[in-house]
Amino acid sequence: MSDMKISLTGIKPSGIPHIGNYLGMIKPALELVEQYNAYYFIADYHALTTLRDSKQMKQNSYDLTATFLALGMNPDNVVFFRQSDIPEIFELSWILSCFCPKGLLNRAHAYKAALDANVKNDKDCDHGINAGLFGYPVLMAADILMYGSHIVPVGKDQKQHVEMTKDMAQAMNHAYDEEIFVLPESVIRAEVETIPGLDGRKMSKSYNNVIPIFAPAKQLRKIIMSIVTDSIPVEAPKDPDSNNVYNLYKYFATPEQDAAMREKFTAGGFGYGDAKQELFELLESTFGEAREKYNAYLADTKKLEEILMEGAKKARYQCSKIMKRVRRAVGVRHKRQVLIETS
Ligand code: TRP
Repeated sequence: MSDMKISLTGIKPSGIPHIGNYLGMIKPALELVEQYNAYYFIADYHALTTLRDSKQMKQNSYDLTATFLALGMNPDNVVFFRQSDIPEIFELSWILSCFCPKGLLNRAHAYKAALDANVKNDKDCDHGINAGLFGYPVLMAADILMYGSHIVPVGKDQKQHVEMTKDMAQAMNHAYDEEIFVLPESVIRAEVETIPGLDGRKMSKSYNNVIPIFAPAKQLRKIIMSIVTDSIPVEAPKDPDSNNVYNLYKYFATPEQDAAMREKFTAGGFGYGDAKQELFELLESTFGEAREKYNAYLADTKKLEEILMEGAKKARYQCSKIMKRVRRAVGVRHKRQVLIETS
């Protein structure tokens, strides 16, 4: 196990996990567990740039933990933890920020989008932008570099952050003429780039068009029935690739189910209502059993905390090696740390 390379990713606890998250991130990340030492964490400090509800923050973190466990994650194989349980990230964030040109952060997509919106709306360019949003890529670089991560499975929108991480790592390696950090690579699954939401736009919490992974069956059916389709009559043949129902169905179908669905659409006499019913049944058979587990995990927050604490312990052990190297390289905290007792 220890010879394997490290796969690391963070997930923001910003809402109920939906099937766009599942296909784009959770499933690929869990598939990598066999070939990599996996470090997966809940990026609660990143969520803090926008999420201001403490109860929600805590609950969303439990939801995510229960989701990963219900979908088959074994905490003995994956170091699963909460970012906020690792105080070292702030130490490294500060150090990295001293090697990160401000201009690099000016170019980060999320910050630029907020800035452009202000300019467009005739507002002050800094309006509503907190320094956390501006420094977001530095915190993410600390997350990645601190464990010696080799690969970072993420969505396309995060690729820029991983590139910036590499820039910061290289800047420090170069400044001290030493390989302090491993240079990470993002791993992006092109085939699951854009999962359509209920309205056909990318499935995203911000568009309010998501299908939660573990919605109760009745609610799930209702949500699926609300998928937007065109008004081609039932009898008419339809192009499977241009409708949202098939474009979700295909991700969960076996090759036989997929071929059968395509044939029904092209033959005609098959309405969107029928297709939605089939999609519902397919999702129900895919996630029904996991939903039971999810609910059981969620009811046992003590167990969830134990798993997160165990993960944090392993994560801190892993990062301690690299942090030692960093401190020595820059010349800080060279003596052993002063320990204090807290209750
Ligand atoms: N910024 C990522 C997102 O919004 C979450 C994240 C935080 C992350 N730290 C990370 C992803 C480190 C990969 C590696 O989705």
